[in-house]
Amino acid sequence: MRGIADLEVSGSAVLLRADLNVPLDPIGHITDDGRIRASMPTITDLAGRGGRLLICAHLGRPTGDDYASRAAGGPSLRPVAARLGELLGQPVRLAEDVAGTSARQLAGLLADGEVGLLENVRFEPAETSKADAERAGLAGRLAALSDLYVGDGFGALHRKHASVYDLPALLPHAAGKLVQAEIAVLHQLTEKPKRPYVVVLGGAKPSDKLAVIANLLNKADRLIIGGGMSYTFLAARGYEVGRSLLEADQIGNVKGIMADAERRGVEIVLPVDLVGATGFAADAEHDVYPADAFPADRESLDIGPASRDLFARKLAGAKTVFWNGPVGVFEFPAFAAGTKAVAEAISRVQGLTVVGGGDSAAAVRQLGFPDTAFSHISTGGGASLEYLEGKPLPGLAALEDGR
Ligand code: 3PG
Ligand code: MG
Repeated sequence: MRGIADLEVSGSAVLLRADLNVPLDPIGHITDDGRIRASMPTITDLAGRGGRLLICAHLGRPTGDDYASRAAGGPSLRPVAARLGELLGQPVRLAEDVAGTSARQLAGLLADGEVGLLENVRFEPAETSKADAERAGLAGRLAALSDLYVGDGFGALHRKHASVYDLPALLPHAAGKLVQAEIAVLHQLTEKPKRPYVVVLGGAKPSDKLAVIANLLNKADRLIIGGGMSYTFLAARGYEVGRSLLEADQIGNVKGIMADAERRGVEIVLPVDLVGATGFAADAEHDVYPADAFPADRESLDIGPASRDLFARKLAGAKTVFWNGPVGVFEFPAFAAGTKAVAEAISRVQGLTVVGGGDSAAAVRQLGFPDTAFSHISTGGGASLEYLEGKPLPGLAALEDGR
């Protein structure tokens, strides 16, 4: 795979596909700019070498049947353009469309070393279309804006979208620094990881993660499962989980995974106590219950203190750790202790420690951990998991094709 050092960018128009999909609060302020900061090394390199840089990115999942209704509903990349400009120390102009008149105007205006941003590429229904011809149409209009393509939107590489998958085939292209760094870390997690290799999985649904778990049974020595998905595992062991999140239709699959893990000698660690609340609210009344004696009328929102100790013991001594998904509702301070304890235990590990995914990355920052507490905080949740599942990533395949 070519890197940006292999591209002659000076005086050329460069279209950079980045993942600037940051969380916004209800009034449109960026609550975690991690993905923008992670994109800066590539942006400053390309602009510093005299490229005329046009950045293409998505934000959220706009809805609507056509361009006009999506653009009206938003979200616009305007706050992202502002933040980019602050980090770059030079203004970043935002086109009013994705690949129309305004985009063409902006492309024509940029001087060497200047940076512009196209509007939210998902305003174009063709971006995410399943129809190859529709995506090809948009890719063609984007290609007409540029001489070169750089793919650095790691978090979107698992999407077969026009700007990620179809566009690189139309222009000389290379992978950006973020994509190269992320792939290098994922490579370390899959090719001869140092042992013991411990994986911590949290987040809402086992159905999202069963495929990755099945593949991790070939790689990891131990799987620690907490958070929303753990209740289906506890139910599969025959425990009462009350009103906690449960995917009842996955119990059979989870039992199969647990049996497979046992055959392969992979230890699955589940919570031994839970914080049971009267409802899903920041101020809900709550108590700690043993996992095998959970009340039918409570909902678990976090792991309990004995589980915090158990998870920490099971992480101590690891040489490789991958963590995806909070183990409690960390957004509510009363239910953040479990996720905080996991982050602390991982930060003490002497070895490769990787935090994967938007939610987990936001969790560790919100809980006050510096980025340096871990070897690597990935910008891609779904992309990392699909890579670890062993699935080809369409956006990566497009960059690797050697053109
Ligand atoms: C993400 O937030 O995981 C990436 O930006 C991809 O976004 P998507 O899940 O909406 O495709
Ligand atoms: Mg190619």
